[in-house]
Amino acid sequence: MSDRGISRRDFAKSAVAIGGASALSACLDRFGSPDVPEGTDPAELPARQHAWNRGLPTDDAGNERLGRHHVLLLLDYERDGTPTDADRTQVTDALRSLERAYAWQAEGLQFTLGYSPAYFERFGSGPAGVDLPEPAALAPFEDPEFDTPDALLHLASDYEQVVLAAEEALKGEQSTVNDTEMAASFDGVFTQADRRTGFVGAGLPAENQDADGIPDSEPVPEDAPLFMGFKSGFKENQASEDSVTIESGPFAGGSTQHLSHIRLQLQQWYEQDSRDQRVSKMFCPAHADEGKVDGVGENLGTDSGVGECAEDVVENSRTEGVAGHAQKAARARDDSDTPVILRRDFDSTNGGQAGVHFLSLQRSIADFVATKSMMNGTDVADGSSVGQRVNNGILQYMRVERRGNYLLPPRDLRALPPAEPA
Ligand code: HEM
Repeated sequence: MSDRGISRRDFAKSAVAIGGASALSACLDRFGSPDVPEGTDPAELPARQHAWNRGLPTDDAGNERLGRHHVLLLLDYERDGTPTDADRTQVTDALRSLERAYAWQAEGLQFTLGYSPAYFERFGSGPAGVDLPEPAALAPFEDPEFDTPDALLHLASDYEQVVLAAEEALKGEQSTVNDTEMAASFDGVFTQADRRTGFVGAGLPAENQDADGIPDSEPVPEDAPLFMGFKSGFKENQASEDSVTIESGPFAGGSTQHLSHIRLQLQQWYEQDSRDQRVSKMFCPAHADEGKVDGVGENLGTDSGVGECAEDVVENSRTEGVAGHAQKAARARDDSDTPVILRRDFDSTNGGQAGVHFLSLQRSIADFVATKSMMNGTDVADGSSVGQRVNNGILQYMRVERRGNYLLPPRDLRALPPAEPA
């Protein structure tokens, strides 16, 4: 990647969004080198790539929070046909170098490498024991583009410097990271098809709100962790890492990943909707009536409390004329009353537009499809004053631009896996 001059204004936005060696060096000049904990022997890391929670800090209530800065690299395998052992070794060496360099924590670096249905086509069959469908439109009112790279790398850290340096090292542009030598890079194995970036955590949306889709007149709350102004990812409203893990077959210990890019349009949300309307549409009407949500929702502790509203969705839509987003999604819970997807989404200003990279993990892509179907609330709109998208949760404020599906193999199969591992 070539060095580019970075204007002060660009820099104020986000070094991660700009990317490359000059963004990294500008970031180091401005904020210095953080004291990042070193990694360990990769053999000591969890078998699951998606086992991140133990390395995440918790808030006062005990909810885990993701690393604050994220990079998504959509990658194509450079070779036609099936992967070579040499390429597998190179990818493994590169990723293990990062694991030695940085602790597997939000304060260090966490990452996953997943593979798409397009990648598995070269083997003539999908991944053994895993249903990995091509991405599809998941609502009657959406028309997304589909991502078809071979692989998706997701990098996350509390430090911009870390995600940027890890990315440079993987591209072969930097030979050491956190004082650790890179044994290899992705150079010659993967080329970049697309690069997306984002952030999540108190203060970051407000800092990055100079984007299309956010009204100038009504600022995003200073302490909001996401553009829409509420906290997300309460412990009791997430699937556990265990429950999203593939249980049998050669990819046991893996998971599936869905990534969508959602564009946000928050003019009405902030300029016309009242606080009560926002709480009704995000959580449920009863939460607004009872004044259950203070500020961004820290007072909710570890549970948004929408479990109790879920069965009232259709009735609420008749009497209150509005259905809540979380309220609708909670109808997709399993027999133990737990959500079936583990959300690891974050905000973005890619393309100058406010958006969300909605990334979620689930045992099967079908779990995502079922949850999304509940969120669509097509049944809720039938015969009530709630429209297909208007007053129907947050559908009116978002537009799904892209979708992609991936398999996250267990760590020992993450480097260019065969479709049928021995
Ligand atoms: C603009 C994008 C989105 C935003 C800002 C957003 C925000 C939120 C918030 C604030 C909550 C309540 C707090 C919590 O439970 O963590 C929530 C719950 C939830 N959302 Fe979203 N969400 C978005 C998109 C989606 C999508 C695309 C899905 C998947 C289809 C989804 C699925 C869920 C689920 C499963 C819950 C928990 C329901 C339960 O408690 O059982 N969300 N969301």
